[in-house]
Amino acid sequence: MSYPPRYKSLPTTVDNEQITSVKARGTAGQKKFIFHLLAVVAIMYATFSGVRYIARSNLKFAKGLWGCHGAHRNLSSLTSHYTLPSGDKIPSVALGVWQAEKGEVGMAVQAALKSGYRHIDGAYAYNNEEYVGKAIRASAVPREQIWLTSKLWNAFHAPEDIEPVLDVTLANLGTDYIYMYLIHWPIAFKKEGNYVLDEALTANPYPTWQKLEEWVDKGKIRNIGISNFNIRRIQNLTANPLKYKPAVNQVELNFWNPQPELLKWAKEHDLILEAYSPLGGSNEVGKTLSQPVVKSIAKELGITPAQVIISWHVQRGTIVLPKSVTPSRIEENLQIFSLPQDLFDKLEKAATSHEPHRTGNPSNRWGLDFDIFDD
Ligand SMILES: NC(=O)c1ccc[n+]([C@@H]2O[C@H](COP(=O)([O-])OP(=O)(O)OC[C@H]3O[C@@H](n4cnc5c(N)ncnc54)[C@H](OP(=O)(O)O)[C@@H]3O)[C@@H](O)[C@H]2O)c1
Repeated sequence: MSYPPRYKSLPTTVDNEQITSVKARGTAGQKKFIFHLLAVVAIMYATFSGVRYIARSNLKFAKGLWGCHGAHRNLSSLTSHYTLPSGDKIPSVALGVWQAEKGEVGMAVQAALKSGYRHIDGAYAYNNEEYVGKAIRASAVPREQIWLTSKLWNAFHAPEDIEPVLDVTLANLGTDYIYMYLIHWPIAFKKEGNYVLDEALTANPYPTWQKLEEWVDKGKIRNIGISNFNIRRIQNLTANPLKYKPAVNQVELNFWNPQPELLKWAKEHDLILEAYSPLGGSNEVGKTLSQPVVKSIAKELGITPAQVIISWHVQRGTIVLPKSVTPSRIEENLQIFSLPQDLFDKLEKAATSHEPHRTGNPSNRWGLDFDIFDD
């Protein structure tokens, strides 16, 4: 009788009874071993499936809790709209269209409307309103469902110049009223000559504002606001007996220039800020999205770095205006999530603890002998 090697130390001569008993023990041992193996495999499988199920359920729960913004718009704990003093509700995420070229802006607007955006941030000076208007008309979305913002350029602050340029914007956009019209800069240029400062209207924007209020009353504008105004300039305007106070102030806000003092002041004075260049603008978007703190939060939450930044803006209480002409990014930028408080705090701390710098400041380019933001 030959045994498997491991039994070689067993006696080589045995009687039949011993043989039968050894065989029986061997078979029972093998059965026990196979049984245990199967049991272990079954337990491992059950554990693995259970963990997977729980993880999925948690993810669904978390998604339900956080809510997808925009296209899904369900149970978001990040606001999808803010209510303005007029009672109008403004969507918290817009597609920005500055530097969106004529050949691409229409496609971007259509992609945005398809993804669920209902807010487009434009301006007369972006020189592409005609293409934005065409894209809106070509879309299936009713015009009145789209929050359109435009801006009064610096050369048209004189009260008599406002209606003609507003009409050009309305005609280009294909509408007879606009949801939001902003004074683009707290700087007025004279009509004659390029970039010649109108000192009187720059020092006192009230005549411009009064004319805008008139157009609110006449129905061409639903809400009026300001852009690039610092606190001193806001107070300079609001010291007047305004009929309508500024609905928003659109300013640069991003990781590099988070302006916590302005944000705090605006909240205390019930003024909503709109974050322009929210990703750092075309020059600094790459640097923003590769910040270790941004990347680590993105990884932890399973979202993209751009979504972390855009979510952070809305969680700070601002409207956010990311610009993109890339359909996949346009869609990505609308999906925002409430960051857990510790991660929000971590990002806020990182953004506010380095030396701030602006990603854009035209003061020199416009030949001003003062800094628009400091003066
Ligand atoms: N009131 C004012 O004076 C003022 C001044 C500046 C801006 N704004 C408004 O604010 C909007 C946004 O500002 P902005 O254009 O300066 O800067 P931004 O939105 O911070 O950055 C735009 C840049 O980011 C890229 N980008 C967008 N989404 C991305 C993503 N998910 N991943 C990677 N890259 C991404 C864009 O590339 P692609 O386009 O190639 O995708 C583009 O190069 C403007 O369009 C305008 O409406 C207002």
